[in-house]
Amino acid sequence: MGVEELDFAHASELDRRGVHAVLAADGEALSYEDTVTAWLSRNDIGFEAPRFAVVREGERIVGYVSARISEEKANAHVALFYLAVLPQHRRRGIGTALLGALPTLIPGRTVAESWNVFKDSPGEHFAAARGLRVVTSMTRQRLDVTGLPEIGALPPGYELVTWTGRTPDEFVETYVEGLNAMADAPFGDTAIDSAGFTADRVRREEAGTLTAGGDRWVVLTLHDREIAGLTVVERQAGQRTRAEQLHTVVLPAHRGHGLGLLMKARMLHELTGVEVIFTRTSSDNRHMLRVNHSLGYTDLYTYLAVQAQL
Ligand SMILES: CC(C)(COP(=O)(O)OP(=O)(O)OC[C@H]1O[C@@H](n2cnc3c(N)ncnc32)[C@H](O)[C@@H]1OP(=O)(O)O)[C@@H](O)C(=O)NCCC(=O)NCCS
Repeated sequence: MGVEELDFAHASELDRRGVHAVLAADGEALSYEDTVTAWLSRNDIGFEAPRFAVVREGERIVGYVSARISEEKANAHVALFYLAVLPQHRRRGIGTALLGALPTLIPGRTVAESWNVFKDSPGEHFAAARGLRVVTSMTRQRLDVTGLPEIGALPPGYELVTWTGRTPDEFVETYVEGLNAMADAPFGDTAIDSAGFTADRVRREEAGTLTAGGDRWVVLTLHDREIAGLTVVERQAGQRTRAEQLHTVVLPAHRGHGLGLLMKARMLHELTGVEVIFTRTSSDNRHMLRVNHSLGYTDLYTYLAVQAQL
């Protein structure tokens, strides 16, 4: 079976639409235009635009694998991948052939993880059959922004700082410290380093989002000018009404005061033009799931992250 690399940035519209059709055949997918924008951009955790390999039947693309790598030292060994085959072409070894093409697509990477495998789906069975290991289980949640929640009173000694777009110079180190406190969030056995932030990395990632036409909002909580917690929402270029609630963390010394809920409530007051927000939280993170439910988020589905050793 022929697996060929596809240079997505220079691919024909027919091929681009072909890859999107494979993705869309399996449920929740962005529109074609929004998908193309996402596939030409870094993702929200700083991994580069994906590389692609495809399998065709005649001219038509019937399956693809995509893989993103990161230039950040902390994640230099790992790739994020996704693979999918059109339903009527499954169980003929195409998925296996695409998985086999991964190492040549991302030379030098020793681990690849897919974070989009629905529980009890063909993808989960395929992953098990091909020896991929489940590293964590995540819950996808959605909030339709219909009204704004009340923002609770800040406990004494705390203050909130908010910004949109580029992180102000005076807060960049504090912000980095807060992001790195995410390292103790429960993400199972993943090879992805969700800490490892530096001021340079923050600048690179925010510039990537902002120059592409996206937006970023941050709410920080300070205690004596030191970081106590933060939350971040990002809207990718081209997605006017839909945003992604990213990192939320309250540092251990400041937990138990309701700061997570308070920051997320405040965040909703900061967003402009956002009608729907998605977020992903470890299925083990009962506390964060509860905070989200109390803001009106509903659970959409559970998905698995699976890991391949290359
Ligand atoms: C996962 C997916 C890519 C597999 O593609 P595929 O071309 O059917 O995979 P293969 O034919 O190479 O299957 C290899 C083996 O996986 C297992 N497998 C695949 N689909 C299965 C299913 N629905 N039920 C049980 N086992 C399954 C079988 O052991 C199969 O070997 P067999 O057909 O000889 O029994 C396809 O089902 C898909 O596109 N799913 C949606 C996207 C997705 O979940 N991606 C997961 C990324 S890890």
